[in-house]
Parts: sequence; C-alpha cells; structure tokens
Amino acid sequence: MNPEGLLSFPDEVPSFKTKMTEPIRAAGLSAAERLKLLKSANYNVFSLSSADVSIDFLTDSGTGAMSQEQWSAMMLGDESYAGATSFAKFEAAFRRITGLEFVLPAHQGRAAERTLFEGLASLGVLTPDSIIASNALFDTTMGWGTHFARCVNLYCDAFDAGHAFEADFKGNLGLNRLKALVGENPGKVKVVMLTITNNTGGGQPASMQNIRELSGYCRQNGILFFFDAARFAENAFFIKDREPGYAEKPIKEIVLEMFSYVDGATFSAKKDARANIGGAVLFSSRHEGLFFACRPSVIRNEGLFTYGGMAGRDMEAIAQGIDETTEYPYLKNRIGQVQLLHALLEKQGIPVLKPSGGHAVYIDAREYLKAVPEAEYRADTLALFLYAVGGVRAVAIGNMMYAEKDGAGRITKPASSEFLRMAVPRNVYSLEHVLYVAGVFKKVHAAREGLSYGIEVVGTFRNDHFDHFDCKSKLVDEGNFAAAVAHAVAAKPALDAAERVRLEVPK
Ligand SMILES: Cc1ncc(COP(=O)(O)O)c(C=O)c1O
Repeated sequence: MNPEGLLSFPDEVPSFKTKMTEPIRAAGLSAAERLKLLKSANYNVFSLSSADVSIDFLTDSGTGAMSQEQWSAMMLGDESYAGATSFAKFEAAFRRITGLEFVLPAHQGRAAERTLFEGLASLGVLTPDSIIASNALFDTTMGWGTHFARCVNLYCDAFDAGHAFEADFKGNLGLNRLKALVGENPGKVKVVMLTITNNTGGGQPASMQNIRELSGYCRQNGILFFFDAARFAENAFFIKDREPGYAEKPIKEIVLEMFSYVDGATFSAKKDARANIGGAVLFSSRHEGLFFACRPSVIRNEGLFTYGGMAGRDMEAIAQGIDETTEYPYLKNRIGQVQLLHALLEKQGIPVLKPSGGHAVYIDAREYLKAVPEAEYRADTLALFLYAVGGVRAVAIGNMMYAEKDGAGRITKPASSEFLRMAVPRNVYSLEHVLYVAGVFKKVHAAREGLSYGIEVVGTFRNDHFDHFDCKSKLVDEGNFAAAVAHAVAAKPALDAAERVRLEVPK
C-alpha cells in the first residue's frame, strides 16, 4: 500500500508463501440461510459455528497461521513435568527478546494477569483502595484488576479527540492525566499498566517517548510500571515507522529498548508470538522478590513454573514465534494487510478509527448506524448485518461490553465509544479475502440507511463486562432487518473511478 493509493505493486516480495490450506466451508451459504443461523445463535456472533463463517475477523488471538519452523519446533516438545528443556528454550527466548530476567509461564494472557495481580496482592502492593492506572485495560485485565484494586483507564488527549483525528500514537497514556490521578489520590496509584498496542483503544500504539516518560515518572513516585505486551512487536513496528530516530533501528533493538523501561510485563502468546495458545509473566532483574511471590499463584492455578498450563510443544512454538515476529518484513506484511483493509473501507466513506490500528480496523458504529437507536446496540447490530450480508464475523466493542446497564441489559450510561472491531488473524488471509470483505462492505454501505432498528437483550444478563460472550438477544424488528439484508445482497456496487484505476490489473 502507498499513502495516496490503495494498492500498488509492492517493492518487496511478501515474507511467506502458503503450503497448507483450510477450506472455507461456509462459502456456499446464502444470506437467507445466514439469517436463520443468526436466529438460532440468539443473535450473538459468539454463538455461531465457525463452519458457518466465511471470513472470521472476530479476533486475532490464537488464530494465526504458524510457520513451518514453529510446527517443526513443536515436534521437539519436552513434556516433562519439571525442568522441561522446552521451558528452558521459552525462558531463553523471552530473556533474549525482551532483556527481562525472570520468566513465569501461563496458559494464556488472562492467566498471566491473574498471576501478576495475585502476587502483587500477596505482597500488600494491591489492596482494595489502591489504583491500577492504564491507557486502557483489556477486559480480562480489567476483570482481574478489579478483583484486587480499582482500575482507571486514562487514554490520552489524541485518542479522545475522536475517530477522525489522526495522530501517530493514540495509544499513549496521557502523562498529564496520570499526574492528575496521582495528585487526586495521594499514595494510592500503585501500578501503571500500559497496553501495547491498546486493544480497547483501537489497536493504537504508544510511542517510545511516552514509555520513557511514564517509566521516569513511575520510578520517581514509587509506582510499578508494567506492559500488557500482547502486541509488543506491532507496537515496535509503529515506533520504527513513525517516531523520529527509530527508522534505521532493527525491530529487535527497539523491543529491547521498550522493555528496558518497565518493571515487568504480562504477555498473551496468542497474539505477537503467533502461537495458538500460551502466555508469560516477565520481571526485570530488580524484581526477584516479586517473581518468587508470584510463583505460588502459578502452582495453584496453572501447574509447575516450568510449564504453567502449556504443553512443552506450545513453549517451543512460542520461543520460535517471538523470534520470527520481531522481524520487520513479517510485521510490514501483517500490518500492511490491516492498513489495506482500513484504506479500502475509509475510501467508501465508512467512519473508521484513524489511523489504522496494528491488528484490527475499528468502525465507529455510533456514527455509522445513526438511524438505529443508541439503546439498541448499534455495533452489535452492525456485526449481525455484516454477517448476514457476507458471512464476515467481527465483534462489537462498546456498549455491550462497557456501558452501564440494568440487570435486563438496558443501557443506563452509554460507553465512551461504540466500535465494530475487525481483527485480522496473522498470516491467514490473502489479498483476495481482504478485497472480498471490502466488497461486502460496499453492499452494507449501500443498504445501511434502511436499517432503523437494532437488538434487544432477552433472558439472563449478568452485567459483568462478559455478557457479550453469551447473552441472548432478539431483533427489535425482524422485517426491517431482513429487508435491509435483501437490499444489500441485491446491490451491485461498482468500483469508483479512483478504485478502478488502482484495482484493475493493467493490460
Ligand atoms: C491487550 C490484551 N491483553 C490481554 C488479553 C488476554 O489474553 P488471552 O486471550 O490470551 O487470555 C488480550 C486478548 O485478546 C488482549 O488483547
């Protein structure tokens, strides 16, 4: 992709080719069949069978395609209970890539979060009136954090300027906001957790300058500074691409500098390690005490601290994975695909969060489906519409997860944003798949104004930030929805002149 166009002939060959394929079984489904499937899934995309999904942009977590080196490393998995050689490789890889000394295993990111927060609570660092501050915590991190302390998402001014505001590092944690929080709550802020890139905040990166400044401030004020490092490599790519002074530095060097500023990190290996499962908690050499304090939590919840809920083969795949994903050609290809999808949607006038995130494209559904009442969950309605029209699965991140609601799922205070997130799995889909999704959006776009009603929650609703996974809904007006789907499917949107120039193969 180039800045002024959508597609161009790339200067460099992509960093991989494919040798194993998986059929898309849902390719033959009609929109009418998908409408029935949605009904039997109680209008919740998490309840659809993956066999009925054509393009799955629900998440980039654990859904990546591993390399041949990762698959072959798995054959070397040592499944010993204690002292597995696969753990030694896992530990050595994390030490080498991050420079952090102490490594604890976890079966995935949320287990790593539990280990860290339980360890901090056992030392009395986290208490019910203490505060964990963040640019924004992921929902499971928020879930574990609120178990032990109060969690505050601070974001930054550029993020709050809205989806259309362009800034290089909208994933920063505003230092001005952190200082104000500390000032208002003397001695209470014990932990700062910077999510890189910020999944809840549009997959946006934090700058090295922000990381450095936060680190300095936290040290001066006796606050522990951690990364939620799920997408650390993608964050490093944006630093290289956008921050003065980093263009010539290798990704691995940038990663080492990033981690040199923190006390530790939690890590979901399902993202930037490009593994299907796994995680870790990391601590700098200054925190041997914390490392030992966290070990009982690993033993209680995950298993011995030389496997922590993973098979030896998983640790092998992760050790290999983090080495490969911290290479520039891989990241350029992976993030370039997300940026291409972003550009193709933006070109159609779809209100996408700008600039493109590293792992996903976020659509401002509040802005996009204005005719649907806010109370009827615009982002979830858009997810259902997208699936019905083209079999594309994406997830709502907004009111259903974060609004204040009563026990029946009625919104009492809307969430600050209402996004539809399309997360792109790593190395899974091709250019043709991305173009297919852009084409489905052309149809959605053509019919969206006819969509006047959304969904209503039915049945049990726990109101606990996890309802989106399993709550049941119904369409407020089935006829209106079906008519809008029919309109979309019948639409034959053409490429506009600018797209035609760029998308047609030259004669
Ligand atoms: C930023 C971030 N942190 C933590 C997690 C939790 O990781 P896991 O799904 O491996 O438990 C996720 C998962 O999507 C995430 O995006």
